[in-house]
Amino acid sequence: MHTHTQRYHFDFEEYNSIHELLPNDAQLLKKAQEVTAMAYAPYSKFHVGAAAILSNGEIITGTNQENASFPAGTCAERSLLTTAATLFPNVPIHTMAISYHNHNGTSNSPISPCGICRQALAEYETRTHQGIRLILGGQEGKVFVIPRATMLLPLVFTAEDMK
Ligand code: THU
Repeated sequence: MHTHTQRYHFDFEEYNSIHELLPNDAQLLKKAQEVTAMAYAPYSKFHVGAAAILSNGEIITGTNQENASFPAGTCAERSLLTTAATLFPNVPIHTMAISYHNHNGTSNSPISPCGICRQALAEYETRTHQGIRLILGGQEGKVFVIPRATMLLPLVFTAEDMK
């Protein structure tokens, strides 16, 4: 017998297209769409791009970089986090846009970060004491805006848990 049923819930915004976004958000998503061209994805042919604006106004990007030894490859989101932390250590990321293009050109719906990237995003939020807003969209079609990356990771494990 359990004593309570706990419920996890979060709200996010859904837009029918990039054209419905505020200009700065549309610009960031466009950057993420464009930077997919820099992805190195000869194995999956799934080209992912991320673009973020930091709280200091800097814009940085990341792409997936694959490897013949598949697990050695890195996702676009974690490439971006590594770049951000190297160029601007401890500066919060205000918003990160994530896009992709795929083999057959059907990138018309949002993708959301993989589990490992969710964990890495969570660490960044903790480290910088600020949530990371996510804009998710393909090359066309619907766009999701998620207020904080950790909303995608219920019961997240953080340094707090090791105290
Ligand atoms: N990938 C990303 O870069 N980000 C995601 O959110 C999903 C997956 C990459 C990893 C791999 O290079 C390819 O996409 C296929 O999984």
